[in-house]
Amino acid sequence: MATSPKKSPYSHRHLLGIEGLSVQEISYLLEKSDEYVGQNRRADKKNDTLHGRTIINLFFEDSTRTRTSFELAGKRLSADVINMSVGSSSVNKGETLIDTASTLNAMHPDVLVVRAGLSGAVQLLAEKVNCAVINAGDGSHEHPTQALLDALTIQRRRGKLQGLKIAICGDILHSRVARSNIYLLVTMGAQVRLVAPMTLLPSGAENWGVEVFHDMKAGLKNCDIVMMLRLQNERMQGNYFPSIREYFHFFGLDYEKLSVAKPDALIMHPGPANRGVEIDSEVADDYSRSVIREQVEMGVAVRMACLDILSHNLQREMQEAAK
Ligand code: CP
Repeated sequence: MATSPKKSPYSHRHLLGIEGLSVQEISYLLEKSDEYVGQNRRADKKNDTLHGRTIINLFFEDSTRTRTSFELAGKRLSADVINMSVGSSSVNKGETLIDTASTLNAMHPDVLVVRAGLSGAVQLLAEKVNCAVINAGDGSHEHPTQALLDALTIQRRRGKLQGLKIAICGDILHSRVARSNIYLLVTMGAQVRLVAPMTLLPSGAENWGVEVFHDMKAGLKNCDIVMMLRLQNERMQGNYFPSIREYFHFFGLDYEKLSVAKPDALIMHPGPANRGVEIDSEVADDYSRSVIREQVEMGVAVRMACLDILSHNLQREMQEAAK
């Protein structure tokens, strides 16, 4: 008789967000991700962990990093990976997100990786399927694997998260990356600062256990980490600042503003970056400080860990249900 896989410290079926996860759960996800970094640096990057499993990437919004890294992650674990291109699917004939998910569910995937334009859509979809679901970004709500890869990047560089001063700067209002990072970093004991114009901060942000600043030099003073965010123009209706030129002048990261952070402060950006808008090109490419490429590398390891953990949780659930 097959034995059930051991219960993992992360026992949920899905990964829909960071909000509500415990220190132990986040630490376990990071530990498991860290184990995969070495495998990805070897010549032979594959193992058989997910042999026979099926992963479907269902992206209703554009993506370069997240979609590619989930595909690579699945393939490096020997799963069968399908990329559903919404542009050529029956969504174009009027099929709803839920009907699309139910249709894919009938093909018995093990994990659905979903990016959706609407906040909450991935949670809704997860309630309609039998497989595990990973939120690859839903509207301005959450992007949990981005926060995990950011945390893994910081932890590998600084050896810890607790006590670090981390400034998250820019369009907080529309950013799922900011939300997931705030939940994770505050839970793990970092001192989080939000730096943004009044118009790009959600109301009540000061109640998230963070400090709020509207001036870059005040917010970046003595910071260990400076995390820049893209202006999410696709989610903006109306004007949030007078012009791009003025936005860069006050909130774009350049060497002058960076000079008040710690001399070895790391520069992060989830990508895609708009050079000359939220970050100066020279600063983004300064690899003595910028860890943007490392964030992308950590993304593959984090996604391998999440696919591994959720697939085994599902297997255990199915074996226990069959008893
Ligand atoms: N950071 C991020 O989610 O990038 P993509 O939109 O390219 O996936």
